[in-house]
Amino acid sequence: MKFSLTLAGLLPFIGQALAVTWCDSANFCYSGIRKTALTDPQNPSATFDLTIGAAYPTDTTRTEFIGEIVATKNANWVGYDMGGSMANNLMILVWLNGNNFVYSTRMATDYVTPPVYSGPVVTQLAASTVNATHWKFVFRCQNCTSWTYNSGGTPVTTTMGTTSQVQSYGICLNSTASCVTSPTSASSALQQHSYFDIWGQDIASGRTSAYDLMLGSTSTTLSIPASTSTTRTSSTTSASSTAIPTPYDYIIVGGGPGGIIAADRISQAGKKVLLLERGGPSTKETGGTREVAPWAKSTGLTRFDIPGLFENMFGADDPWWWCKDLTVFGGCLLGGGTVINGMLYFPPPTYEFSSVYGWPSEWSNPTAAIAQLLARLPSYTPPSSDNKYYLDQVYTLLKSHFSKKGYSEVVINDNRDWKDSIYGHPAYNFHNGIRSGVTHTYLQTAKARSNFKLMLYTYAHSVVRNGATITGVRTNNTIDLPNGIATLTPKGRVILSSGVYGTARILFTSGIGPTDMIQQVNQSAVASYLPPWNQYINLPVGQYVSDNPSINLVFTHPAVDDFENWQNIWDSPRTADAAQYVASQTGVFASSSPRFNFWKALWGADGKTRWMQGTARPGGWPSTEQSFNTTAVFTITFYLSLGITSRGRIGINSDLKGFPLVQPWFQDPNDKSALLKGITDAIADMKTNLPGLVMITPDNTTTLSAFVDAYDKASMNSNHWVGSTRIGANSSVAVVDTNCKVFNTNNLFVLDAGIIPSQPMSNTHASVMTAAEMGVARILALTGGA
Ligand SMILES: Cc1cc2nc3c(=O)[nH]c(=O)nc-3n(C[C@H](O)[C@H](O)[C@H](O)COP(=O)(O)OP(=O)(O)OC[C@H]3O[C@@H](n4cnc5c(N)ncnc54)[C@H](O)[C@@H]3O)c2cc1C
Ligand SMILES: *[C@@H]1O[C@H](CO)[C@@H](O)[C@H](O)[C@H]1NC(C)=O
Ligand SMILES: *[C@@H]1O[C@H](CO)[C@@H](O)[C@H](O)[C@H]1NC(C)=O
Ligand SMILES: *[C@@H]1O[C@H](CO)[C@@H](O)[C@H](O)[C@H]1NC(C)=O
Ligand SMILES: *[C@@H]1O[C@H](CO)[C@@H](O)[C@H](O)[C@H]1NC(C)=O
Ligand SMILES: *[C@@H]1O[C@H](CO)[C@@H](O)[C@H](O)[C@H]1NC(C)=O
Ligand SMILES: *[C@@H]1O[C@H](CO)[C@@H](O)[C@H](O)[C@H]1NC(C)=O
Ligand SMILES: *[C@@H]1O[C@H](CO)[C@@H](O)[C@H](O)[C@H]1NC(C)=O
Ligand SMILES: *[C@@H]1O[C@H](CO)[C@@H](O)[C@H](O)[C@H]1NC(C)=O
Repeated sequence: MKFSLTLAGLLPFIGQALAVTWCDSANFCYSGIRKTALTDPQNPSATFDLTIGAAYPTDTTRTEFIGEIVATKNANWVGYDMGGSMANNLMILVWLNGNNFVYSTRMATDYVTPPVYSGPVVTQLAASTVNATHWKFVFRCQNCTSWTYNSGGTPVTTTMGTTSQVQSYGICLNSTASCVTSPTSASSALQQHSYFDIWGQDIASGRTSAYDLMLGSTSTTLSIPASTSTTRTSSTTSASSTAIPTPYDYIIVGGGPGGIIAADRISQAGKKVLLLERGGPSTKETGGTREVAPWAKSTGLTRFDIPGLFENMFGADDPWWWCKDLTVFGGCLLGGGTVINGMLYFPPPTYEFSSVYGWPSEWSNPTAAIAQLLARLPSYTPPSSDNKYYLDQVYTLLKSHFSKKGYSEVVINDNRDWKDSIYGHPAYNFHNGIRSGVTHTYLQTAKARSNFKLMLYTYAHSVVRNGATITGVRTNNTIDLPNGIATLTPKGRVILSSGVYGTARILFTSGIGPTDMIQQVNQSAVASYLPPWNQYINLPVGQYVSDNPSINLVFTHPAVDDFENWQNIWDSPRTADAAQYVASQTGVFASSSPRFNFWKALWGADGKTRWMQGTARPGGWPSTEQSFNTTAVFTITFYLSLGITSRGRIGINSDLKGFPLVQPWFQDPNDKSALLKGITDAIADMKTNLPGLVMITPDNTTTLSAFVDAYDKASMNSNHWVGSTRIGANSSVAVVDTNCKVFNTNNLFVLDAGIIPSQPMSNTHASVMTAAEMGVARILALTGGA
């Protein structure tokens, strides 16, 4: 834990590392350093990229700046020091914990981890991103242009220059991820930097008159109208006077799988339905024209349509489709998660709906709902319409291992109840080589009905309520809705289908949820939307969430073609594969990346059964210092699914940003020991069965159990969140009742992944759609509605 305090010996080099200026986009220009492929002498096999830039206001009396730090993911922490020596200067330290940035201001005084220095205020801005290879932390640093240290009892204040300043950085690269002692804690102790340097920061070149524009466009993640309703109305007078209030029998909030199925079934029953979606069109079928793949222009197919572009969802430069007000992945466009996900499609086994897993007894038989779902959305194996498998080496290879271990080869969806010691090709609801799903089926039938209305780019803030009775939904759409309020007919109902995080946020803003979350809203820009105190409804919204813990193991085998790790698929795909797809929507691009799935039942030390799902694909992100065959990489993701007992909690901060308050993964040590045993058994004899196989993550310097112990919890996120508004017996343990109605309300319902009381057997969207079919039937059958 020793730190070098001074870089004085390097001072003669000042001026060699000159600041450069660059722009990320029109108004985002910085001055600083941009380094690529630097080699760390202490870590000779590791190269890294590092950019540190800052933009300053033109008003030199302002004491703040906007900073940008971009690093390759092997940077375990980066420290940006406002002076040429580490000691006694203000430093910003940042690292990535899963997809979350953890940051602090520090000042080094001694040969130890620099302690936290308080006074400066660092705020993460929305331009921060994480992709497969890099992270980018964009932040505002207020009260950051002068700092004070203690010199033998005397305070000494240093002020940042107005035109230039020698600055320095340190970085810790360590593939074993041990540079940060407790990655979730901003005040964590650290390993010393493995590399550092200094440069002369050109502050004058970093001054920009667009400074406030940069702040505005990056910090406003929600489009929130002025917080008082008077301002809102007056600013939209003309719109308000032309929009005529149209009441609806059902207002459904959120155009993901839950909301679209609800909207279709309820409009089919003849009710007047309004579906609100915050995002815009996605696939070509929904009118999407953004993101047409450059090599597929003649088809008009977008990244949301072409299954084989799935891996690039995470690697694009401007991934506008991700919800910007969550710290986890979520799709904020029409179709929700189903237009950006891998589309693995496994209708649930009947026993998933058992009371053992928290479902009310009325829900114990999903068979009819699954039949309805499959009638609309059949599953396709293989997804390519020429009925051939492409890039199938991972399947062939793993088949020879798993068959020797006594697993049976099956068409997985032929028997959805059989999930023990089986493997097969992945099943999808891609159809004819194009993403299908709710947007191509349920949404199309709804749209054909005159009693159905869809409003895009309409963000719902809260429900409008009078005690237990909901009268409408408050949105930001003042063009189509008078004062932005969608209203209900006298017996009308609202269904929230905004996903695990989105629905929880709307409930909080409506004064429904735990007190600490209501208090967050009370401190936010939309505090005025809260009902009076005596109307708050205390429910465990956000509690009891779960998500599959998942562990990735990375291997090489000479028989595997890693497809360049999917890195060239957007700009320069393999010519033959691209041409085949454009001509006939067949081939490698007709499928997303997974190639092999398996399941196994595990018996835990606590006597409970938990199931393990495996998904394997070509490519991966190994972490090893040993050399390996880079074209032969494949990954197996091991998920622990039905039967897991761990729970977490999600919530919002005072910017209304959704995040896991308590991480759900491995809270119960029995989950961890079950998965570790499952993985151990699954890979036993693999080297013998598959000559030439090398496991590269973990490599031969780390045992599997040490690897699992050290596995970053947030990296276990599988994007399969459920449970934030779970169904159940009463308002102490659940948020919605057997009919999906929010407890202690008269006409508010939830229909999305949030109601699912326990982790499903497989990737969630088939279970979400099954629950939506079952739930919407119960809501329609419930008396008292319009
Ligand atoms: C990266 C990723 C990969 C995945 N891969 C798979 C997979 O391969 N197979 C699988 O089965 N599952 C997968 N999933 C999970 C699956 O997509 C989700 O379980 C499913 O989409 C959840 O459905 P939902 O209806 O609950 O919510 P969502 O799909 O999240 O839909 C919510 C909708 O509500 C809208 N919304 C939110 N807030 C508001 C608001 N305030 N006002 C108006 N509209 C709002 C959103 O824009 C969105 O359209 C993946 C998820 C992710 C994120
Ligand atoms: C700014 O930071 C200093 C410490 O450097 C602190 O003493 C001071 O209170 C801070 N000022 C404000 C306005 O927060
Ligand atoms: C990397 O991690 C290992 C294991 O914890 C540790 O022994 C080593 O000192 C670390 N190296 C650096 C450069 O931090
Ligand atoms: C990943 O992010 C970095 C930093 O923002 C960017 O330079 C790089 O192009 C991105 N990679 C891809 C594949 O988009
Ligand atoms: C409402 O919010 C959505 C989603 O954030 C946004 O796209 C839209 O432009 C906003 N509308 C208005 C009128 O601000
Ligand atoms: C909400 O904030 C106001 C002041 O802004 C305060 O008076 C009130 O007590 C707060 N209510 C809650 C529930 O925290
Ligand atoms: C590396 O893998 C490729 C397949 O991706 C294979 O053709 C090649 O022989 C392998 N090289 C070695 C040295 O094993
Ligand atoms: C570990 O693997 C590397 C690379 O494959 C190899 O060079 C080394 O000999 C192996 N070490 C042991 C102890 O097996
Ligand atoms: C709520 O339901 C749970 C689970 O069924 C039960 O244990 C508990 O006693 C119930 N609480 C009340 C107040 O009814």
